[in-house]
Order: sequence, then C-alpha cells, then structure tokens
Amino acid sequence: MNATIFPEKKKHCPVLLNEIISIITPQYGGTFIDCTFGQGGYTKKILEYPKSKVIALDRDPESIKISSALEKKFGKRFFFKNKKFSFIDKLELNNENINSIIFDLGYSYTQIKDTGKGLSFNSHGELNMKMGINEFSAKDVIYKLDKNELEKIFKFFGDEKDSKKIASKIIKNREAKKIDTQELVRIIKSSKKKNYKTHVATKIFQSLRIFVNKEISELIFGLINATKILKPGGKIVVVTFHSLEDKIVKFFFKSLSEKKSISRYMPKIDEEDNLFKIGNKKPIVPSDKELKANILSRSAKLRFAIKEKDVLNFEKEILKKFNYLLEIENLSRKL
Ligand SMILES: C[S@@+](CC[C@H](N)C(=O)[O-])C[C@H]1O[C@@H](n2cnc3c(N)ncnc32)[C@H](O)[C@@H]1O
Repeated sequence: MNATIFPEKKKHCPVLLNEIISIITPQYGGTFIDCTFGQGGYTKKILEYPKSKVIALDRDPESIKISSALEKKFGKRFFFKNKKFSFIDKLELNNENINSIIFDLGYSYTQIKDTGKGLSFNSHGELNMKMGINEFSAKDVIYKLDKNELEKIFKFFGDEKDSKKIASKIIKNREAKKIDTQELVRIIKSSKKKNYKTHVATKIFQSLRIFVNKEISELIFGLINATKILKPGGKIVVVTFHSLEDKIVKFFFKSLSEKKSISRYMPKIDEEDNLFKIGNKKPIVPSDKELKANILSRSAKLRFAIKEKDVLNFEKEILKKFNYLLEIENLSRKL
C-alpha cells in the first residue's frame, strides 16, 4: 500500500472487499485461504457466511492477537498460522478442496503506523522494515552492501531514477554518520533536483522493503505453490499495490492461460491445455466510492484466474522471466 499517512484514519480498511466477495462467493460455502490475514478484514467477512471455512496466514506475529480471538469465536471454521505465504504448499490440508486462495499484498495501515517497524519515511529511529520472519533489516542492507548492489536494489525494486546518486551518497555518509530513517530521507532529498508529487523517499523505501522482506520470491513462490495445491475450478485472487507486483501477477496468469505453440512451425496447442482461465482481462480497481472512503486504496489492482487443469513444470516460464529480480534478491547472501 502507499505509505502516505492520513492522520484522520485510525485503522486498516480492507481494500476491494465487495469485489473479492463477489468473485469467491462464500455464501455457497467452501474453504478459503487468506494468505495475508493482516487485521482479518477479508477473513471476518468470509466467516460471516456460515458454510464457509478460512485458513489464514500472515508473517507478522502481531496478527496472532486478532487471529486468536477469531479462533475462539469460530472454532473449527478458522485456522491461523504465523507463516510466510510461500509456505502454503507445506500446510497439511488433507486433500481439502480449496475454493479460493487470496493475496492482498504489501502491508497494512496498522503496520505502517507501527514506528518500530520503520516502514514509513515518517518514522524516526533505526532502519528496520521487517514485516515478520526476516533474516536481516534495512540497516544491514544500507551498511553492508556496496554501491552497485544498493543501486540495483533502488533501480529494479523501486524504479528510482536517481539510484546511482543516492547509492553513492549512502556509501560516503555511512562511515561518518549514523544512517537512521530520517537521515536516509535527508540523503534522498539532497539527491533530488525538483519537487515531486509523491514523497521523494517513496521509491527508495519501497525498494528496501521489497528487498528486506524478499517480496519478489515470496510472490513468485506464493503463486506457484498456491497453484500446485489448488484443484481445477479453484481461484487465485491477487490485489497488488505497485507496478512490479502487478507485472509479475499479470505475466503469471497470462502466460499460463494463452494458447502457445512449441515452435513457430507447429500449430498452437488447444486452449483446453491451459492451466488457467483469466477471470478479468483488465484489472479491477477501486470504485469512486471506495476511493472517497479510503484514499489508501488508490493504487490497488485486482486480478484473478480460475485453475482449469493440472499442468506439469508450469513454473519454468515465470522463474526464467523474473530471474533477474530473484538474482538481485539473492544479494542478501552477503548479509
Ligand atoms: C495489505 S495487508 C492485508 C490486510 C488484510 N487483507 C485485511 O483486510 O486486514 C498485507 C498483510 O500481508 C502480510 N504479508 C505480506 N507479505 C507476506 C508473506 N509473504 N507471507 C505472509 N504474510 C505476508 C503482512 O504482514 C500484512 O499483514
């Protein structure tokens, strides 16, 4: 989600909730996996339908408070695990028929307001950015990687035009001065010539958050493993908040739902051989009403696909396509 803080807002608002419900139709019952439980916005709505059951995951241990209350209230209809969603295929589901698997990517309003996490450029204190179940912090990244490595993270994960300049300034400054959240914001500001519509630090903070939380491999393996456990007829629904996430989700669904030929001299294979049927060609975005009520939903895009059949080795293509991003993430080996 966008990191701008709106002081009048107090709690997280689930994004595109009505649209999600109309896609997954919990009124007819079934088991749903909420991969990004957060404040339980989607889960609570699904559980309002008495024939439904929810299995929820979230990497942030803070989610346990809300999930414990739901476990008491709903008993066997609700089950929570404090795990990353790439772990989804390790859940012991006993051959359960899953209706839909839902991902609402990024972070919640509650997390960005948590100053200890340091996700916002309005935070003060040490660089952190860990969402939960992490191996290193943003401080480790800023202090231990070299100029080229930082530049790559800023460029590819943040689409930051001034990545080179900012990386150089960090390297120069980090020996002499402690770089905490506000010092990083100052370095970014001093590298920029003009005023921007969004906060100047948005892209650098996004890139560090993606790197610290390994969000690229989480998303890619989350999608791959979700697809593996889903039976034909099941749906994968994803809400993204920035173009890099959306690019990955769009490619994944599209590449596995298109007619393909093995070579240009061979006929295209039948559509029945596709793994997915795309639910919506254009992404679903928040209505004017939702935007008015929750401006933080403004960059949300929803895509969904229905699994048609099991296909072997389907993950090859996405891994090849986004290998350059996974390699950048692998720079964390040095930390
Ligand atoms: C936008 S919030 C979800 C809000 C939720 N839909 C609601 O209505 O309350 C995203 C949540 O996903 C969690 N998250 C992000 N990446 C994750 C991952 N790889 N595995 C598990 N949880 C993750 C975050 O900790 C955060 O709580």
